[in-house]
Amino acid sequence: MELTNNEKRMLKALRTKPDEKWGLDSLLSACGWDDQAHVAGAGLALAEKELVEMETEKSVVWNLGPEGDQAIENGLLEKRIWDWLESQPESSRSMKDLQESEVVSKQEAGIGVGLLKGIGCQFEKGSFVLPEITDSVIVTLVARHSFLEQCKKGASEQDLDSELLAHFRKRKGLIESIEGSTRTWRLADAGQKLSDEGLEERLQVVEITPELLQGEDWRDADFKSYDVELDAPVPAGGRPHPMMALIERIRSIFLEMGFDEIDGNFVQTAGWNMDALFIPQDHPAREMQDTFYLTNPEKIEIEQKYLDDWTSIHESGGETGSTGWGGSYSTDESQKGLLRTHTTVNTVRYLADKPDVPCRVFGIGRVFRKETIDRTHLPEFHQIEGIIMEPGSSLPMLVTTLKTFYEKMGYPEVRVRPAYFPYTEPSLEVEVKWRGQWLELGGAGIFRPEVTEPLGCKWPVCAWGMGLERLAMLVLGLDDIRQLYISDLEWLRNQPLL
Ligand code: PHE
Repeated sequence: MELTNNEKRMLKALRTKPDEKWGLDSLLSACGWDDQAHVAGAGLALAEKELVEMETEKSVVWNLGPEGDQAIENGLLEKRIWDWLESQPESSRSMKDLQESEVVSKQEAGIGVGLLKGIGCQFEKGSFVLPEITDSVIVTLVARHSFLEQCKKGASEQDLDSELLAHFRKRKGLIESIEGSTRTWRLADAGQKLSDEGLEERLQVVEITPELLQGEDWRDADFKSYDVELDAPVPAGGRPHPMMALIERIRSIFLEMGFDEIDGNFVQTAGWNMDALFIPQDHPAREMQDTFYLTNPEKIEIEQKYLDDWTSIHESGGETGSTGWGGSYSTDESQKGLLRTHTTVNTVRYLADKPDVPCRVFGIGRVFRKETIDRTHLPEFHQIEGIIMEPGSSLPMLVTTLKTFYEKMGYPEVRVRPAYFPYTEPSLEVEVKWRGQWLELGGAGIFRPEVTEPLGCKWPVCAWGMGLERLAMLVLGLDDIRQLYISDLEWLRNQPLL
């Protein structure tokens, strides 16, 4: 059996008087400790190992009252008067002398008479008369003082002298009692049977430090084992916000899957945010009530080449074989400044820069839409966006990639369903099973030729975009998206490490 040094020491003490019930004070002095936490800790551990029997009894504990603290500091009233009397000539020990002295207040002088009589003085014709032999007075005064000292530390009733207790109970404010409990420890049979050798105290290592490992002492030392199941305080230090932690985790998953990270500006043009993606200029989602258009910059210039390409694609399909949307394309509309409504603008701009280099890229970024805030909507949220363009990139490759991602996130059940986006064909909706339900987390598809051909892309482009907050709600088990951005410290502290 493994015993700590404290346990060994306490057990050794108990073994000196195997039949005795030991109290706190006697154990403290037998073990040479001055902190009762040692007795409490070792005692509890020994009791758990059934080497000692521990009993807890309810008891009354006496402490000092407010007057008691005063008495410890300045001396009990009777002691102060007594000292004064002894220093006075016999002829000046009258009540009046006492009142005029600085030893007591007026009130105290009155009470003093009774107290002094109680310890053996007489009071005759207005003056105190001291007894012939003063020994017993001194004994009483010392006893009273040490009684108060005992109470100062908190003493259980059975440890106190009953006569003195009766005396002090009658005096006002000197002592007060509270309900407490006292523990006693007694050696158990198993503790008695243990051999002496096992009780030698040894160097015990609680903490392994570099210094310790540099020396040789650790070779013969005992290492204190840890009980990992004990309750421990939860450290409340700083830590990343759950959203930051989640972003980090997603980032590392895509990096691990061989993707590079890309980024982009919040401020974009309608052209790159929408026209490049073959979203018709009269699409309802482009309206003022859905998109934050800017007054500054109201217009951002776009290279003529793109404006020309998008004009022909939108009006007639350009050279893609598509018929386009018809009508007439507005380059003014195209150059309007706005806050990006999706991160697909990042991937399409990336393709415009590098249309002929195979790529796997992703980005996590904030997007803006005029949403009314409710349980599932925010006007600012994040999307996780990505594309794969390489020889042989295909729909199955896209689905497998997304499945792999969700599996790594801890959601192995994923399905895709047909969907519609103006910029992909075919288009998919990605759903994940959570608590028995299928939840839609994002969109995906192969970019249409109307998107990729004007940019000069050499291979099919697999693309997807999904909502980060939606995913966060799953991961953190939330039913209100707003919880993520309320700085509720209690909630933040209790979130799992992601
Ligand atoms: N941009 C779409 C959205 O905001 C998601 C999407 C991205 C769909 C890429 C298809 C391809 O919901």
